[in-house]
Amino acid sequence: MSAPVFLLATNNSGKLAEMRPIFASLGIECVSMREAGVSSDPEETGVTFEENALIKARAAMGASGMPSVADDSGLMVDALGGAPGVMSARFAGGHDVSDAEKCAYLLAKMADKEQRSARFVSCIACVFPDGGKVTAHGTCEGRIIRAPRGESGFGYDPVFVPEGYDETFAELGPEIKNGISHRARALLAFKEELARYLGR
Ligand code: IMP
Repeated sequence: MSAPVFLLATNNSGKLAEMRPIFASLGIECVSMREAGVSSDPEETGVTFEENALIKARAAMGASGMPSVADDSGLMVDALGGAPGVMSARFAGGHDVSDAEKCAYLLAKMADKEQRSARFVSCIACVFPDGGKVTAHGTCEGRIIRAPRGESGFGYDPVFVPEGYDETFAELGPEIKNGISHRARALLAFKEELARYLGR
């Protein structure tokens, strides 16, 4: 039996660019929502990354009938009690706010904070038409610097320096980021869970 084609249920081009090569390296064929002609943008009402990833995967599966994979991710800053967390995309007031504005808003909130520790968290969820599901998590520890640096990536990449490095994710670029990021780690854990689920 040929393996199913998976739908990557995200409209975030940054996430798509990171998820595609990882799926390719796992030998799993996938298509984006645009390629599949599917539109889905449910409200993210969950209070955990896993709840939101499942909401997005289930909505995409309902719209497409395909096994659907969604990521919910965000930045958790210790000095802000774990914020922005599941609100990372909406932190500075909404989805229309640019990444640069979100970074500036975060840095302003942290202007007087000495404690700079933070982590990116990702949950990958896949739901199948038969009701089955596979979930996996990944984290990447690091710290928030005081002014943005670097051009690559998306979101909070210019203000996050991963543990063991001096450069931000935005300076390190996709090759290094994709080896150590929360999403890369979640996808590797997902690969194992998926293989178990598919009985491989
Ligand atoms: P959501 O998972 O689409 O709800 O949004 C997650 C938000 O967290 C993104 O819009 C980014 O602001 C932030 N985020 C998640 N992953 C990353 C990353 O790898 N780099 C930078 N920001 C990220």
